[in-house]
Amino acid sequence: MITIPYLTALTTYFSYGLLFAFGQLRDFFRKIFDWWSHNSLEGYAPICLGLEDFYIRRLYLRIQDCFNRPICSSPDAWFDVVERISNDYNKTLKRTTRVARCLNLGSYNYLGFAAADEYCTPRAIESLKKFSASTCSTRVDGAPSHLEKVLREQIAEGQPRTHRPWKKIIVVVEGIYSMEGELCQLPEIVSICKKYRAYIYLDEAHSIGAVGKSGRGVCDLLGVDTADIDIMMGTFTKSFGSCGGYIAGSKELIEYLKHNCPAHLYATSISPPAAQQIISSIKVILGEDGSSRGAQKLARIRENSNFFRSELQKMGFEVLGDNDSPVMPIMLYNPAKIPAFSRECLKRNVAVDGGFSSHPFTVSRARICISAAHTREDLIRALEVISRVGDMVGVKYFPAEPKKQQLEEKELRWTEEISFQEIPRSPRSSFRMVIISGLNTVGTCMDLDATKTRLLCCSYSLVQAGFSRLKSSSVIHKLQAALTQFHSF
Ligand SMILES: Cc1ncc(COP(=O)(O)O)c(C=O)c1O
Repeated sequence: MITIPYLTALTTYFSYGLLFAFGQLRDFFRKIFDWWSHNSLEGYAPICLGLEDFYIRRLYLRIQDCFNRPICSSPDAWFDVVERISNDYNKTLKRTTRVARCLNLGSYNYLGFAAADEYCTPRAIESLKKFSASTCSTRVDGAPSHLEKVLREQIAEGQPRTHRPWKKIIVVVEGIYSMEGELCQLPEIVSICKKYRAYIYLDEAHSIGAVGKSGRGVCDLLGVDTADIDIMMGTFTKSFGSCGGYIAGSKELIEYLKHNCPAHLYATSISPPAAQQIISSIKVILGEDGSSRGAQKLARIRENSNFFRSELQKMGFEVLGDNDSPVMPIMLYNPAKIPAFSRECLKRNVAVDGGFSSHPFTVSRARICISAAHTREDLIRALEVISRVGDMVGVKYFPAEPKKQQLEEKELRWTEEISFQEIPRSPRSSFRMVIISGLNTVGTCMDLDATKTRLLCCSYSLVQAGFSRLKSSSVIHKLQAALTQFHSF
């Protein structure tokens, strides 16, 4: 639970009030001007209406240069950000030919597979040559106490109006909450769901490959048996540096999705090189490439995340989330601080993801995503920049710890041995936040036959691409095998 300091809340509301008042005033004069110059298109329904439209025109557009920054290199630890200019007060942004080499603190490149990799890239290229870029044919056939309170209430009250008992209750949780950086309290949630016979849907978009001793997500990290989770969903776009995703569940569930989920029925197939990238990255994580790179990457992302989080906290930033989580939001609150923080960091060649998106206006934040590809020097440099910008923008809401402790961390050496017990955990999400943050995508494109668990791959980014189907190719069967091995531990 975020508690906004009184003064910060006051200035945040005041800033939003000011933006709102000026926006309304401008809209008012705009209407008069349109009426005067007969600009209004009578007889046409407005394309968009209401607060959302107002928010985009009067708030978002003013700072849109802080979002969706185009890049022209792979999203590695460092990347090339294309500079953009605007001649109409940020309404439109034009790309220039200039690029800035920036430290990337905004990509979900948790294990560093999003850039060229000595093991994955040659294999992906090989599969591209062998199977082409697309197959285009038919698809393969073949906070717990709060949760308990809510469940009890719902079971007691039943359905609205009729008060008949609920037939099924599904609790939707995320392994790591993408805008909060918190780990879900899975063992407690599992035991409550068992008690009340509720189903669990676990979205591992940000946790699969990123946490756990062997990179198998929150079940691995928190010691939960995957058999206790009814639906496991994950994406390949983050830790695996590819595209698409999967759903794992019972045979009945997968059969049901195969026959009823439009995103599955109408999805296009996963591209062979993309599938090959997933297979290769899983092999690296499991150590089947014949090296210890996978284990090193897992150790490094954990080290990097915990180092960066503790350093930010020592500097006096309000950082959300748990230890081990590579997602760490820095609270900014005030709307004016969002562009100020983002632009000042970019000026110093550090790209952070910032702003207001899926959380309330008043709790705006910049979000840092740490990668195994970051070196200790990268992180120290980023910390120096963020600290300087934090002082300028005034977002160090807590007193800083003495400098000496920060410097001591520079001496930390990488450890390959992982021990998960000693890390203290901070408070977790309320059930309301769990439900709000957890409801997410179900997109499917192929079914993977497996003995223990049946997996269904979803290709979120490819779903839109057309109605072509997946061809049964050897690369897909390899992907089935790799995923099955990865999940059945
Ligand atoms: C919680 C969560 N679930 C699912 C997804 C879907 O990921 P993608 O569309 O990249 O496969 C995301 C993306 O950020 C996410 O944050």
